[in-house]
Amino acid sequence: MNIDVITLFPDFFTSGLQSGLLGRALANAIASVNLVNPRDFTVDKHHRVDDIPYGGGVGMVLKPEPIFAAVNSLPRLPHSQVILLTPQGSPLTQTTLQDLATHYQQLILICGHYEGFDERIRYLADREISLGDFVLTCGEIPALALINGVVRLLPGTVGKTESLKAESFEEGLLDYPQYTRPAVFQDWEVPDILRSGNHQLIAQWRRDQQIQRTQKRRRDLWEKWSSETSSDQAES
Ligand SMILES: C[S@@+](CC[C@H](N)C(=O)[O-])C[C@H]1O[C@@H](n2cnc3c(N)ncnc32)[C@H](O)[C@@H]1O
Repeated sequence: MNIDVITLFPDFFTSGLQSGLLGRALANAIASVNLVNPRDFTVDKHHRVDDIPYGGGVGMVLKPEPIFAAVNSLPRLPHSQVILLTPQGSPLTQTTLQDLATHYQQLILICGHYEGFDERIRYLADREISLGDFVLTCGEIPALALINGVVRLLPGTVGKTESLKAESFEEGLLDYPQYTRPAVFQDWEVPDILRSGNHQLIAQWRRDQQIQRTQKRRRDLWEKWSSETSSDQAES
């Protein structure tokens, strides 16, 4: 997977792309990240990437020309997506990450800044993605979150593929509770069943925990999971 990031602040990515599993995946060439600064595509002597908004108002707006030039300079693979990071996009979900990791060879991520983009920059994008219903100062944090989430799903990044399947959201449920040693910590004991060695009972307990936990914490997810599970059962 080739990931190109259009960013005014390439330094932002330095440690995020080098650390942990993501850093190892990139070092092992499971994916590559190419940082492209639209300022390098300006043609005026001040290298301006922003300007005041038409109609007045506070803040500066990213100019279309450097962003178009940066995106259009990139070689394109057959299955590529240009993604604009914006709070006005579709909220990022695990399903979106799976779709991007499975169906595309190249992602081009455009990070905004200041008051946002000139509206015409939207014409470059195949889709718009939001990290959630809140506003950050920049698109670099959502871009890094998206890169991390997509690369994590690529074969070879996470050692055991079963560990990907068991995690929150993979089957529409939250993950089950995890424990490690010691067996007793400050009067809190690890459930006996996890120390029983009975793998069938442990699997059943974990599944029950996933269902109860999702019902309690994320009623919306639980209702969706319940209705999908009952319609699957009705069909079979
Ligand atoms: C201050 S924000 C601009 C917000 C814009 N005026 C609006 O209300 O839609 C600057 C940039 O940060 C990024 N950004 C901020 N919050 C975001 C979010 N929740 N998801 C994705 N990108 C976000 C976008 O790239 C955006 O262009």
